[in-house]
Amino acid sequence: MDIVDRIIISEEEIQNRVRELGAAISRDYAGKTITLLCILKGGLMFLCDLAKHITQPVTYDFMSVSSYGDATETSGVVRITKDLEESIEGKHVLIVEDIIDTGLTLSYLLKNLHSRNPASLRICTLLDKPANRRVEIPIDYVGFEVPNEFLVGYGLDFKQLYRNIPFIFVPKRELIAD
Ligand code: PRP
Repeated sequence: MDIVDRIIISEEEIQNRVRELGAAISRDYAGKTITLLCILKGGLMFLCDLAKHITQPVTYDFMSVSSYGDATETSGVVRITKDLEESIEGKHVLIVEDIIDTGLTLSYLLKNLHSRNPASLRICTLLDKPANRRVEIPIDYVGFEVPNEFLVGYGLDFKQLYRNIPFIFVPKRELIAD
């Protein structure tokens, strides 16, 4: 594709890792029902693939958040634009994210969700970008650690586009500069 500079993680690598994560989650939650909490929109593709490889019973719920501040950096002030539809009290909640960057979004969400008294609350992220971390986040499941580059595809967007691309790539500079 003419928007791709470099592929960072191929479709096959993603699918293999997602299968491994699904198996690990299935083992760890043996005998339990899992509430998969997808953070929209980036987590959607990952949720769909991950859920196929979880053998325990699962339910889905969704949250949307938006952070104030400029578009390229999370400000840490998070607003819930779509809340959960069901109570998570007493449930085993697994947050499904596409990427953890500064950690500010999840830091806010963890506090918010803990206050709703789930039986357990864990985090599964496909990508971890530790170079930018501003607040420590206890991540339970990580797909890949990624370098501090602008990444697009498999949930990650550029101006809301390219979330549907099945691999993760660095876009061409011309594309971003436009
Ligand atoms: C991305 C990602 C996380 C957050 C991580 O979402 O899905 O929710 O940023 O960044 P942080 O660790 O620096 O807080 P984004 O706000 O881009 O929304 P989207 O999922 O709709 O693309």
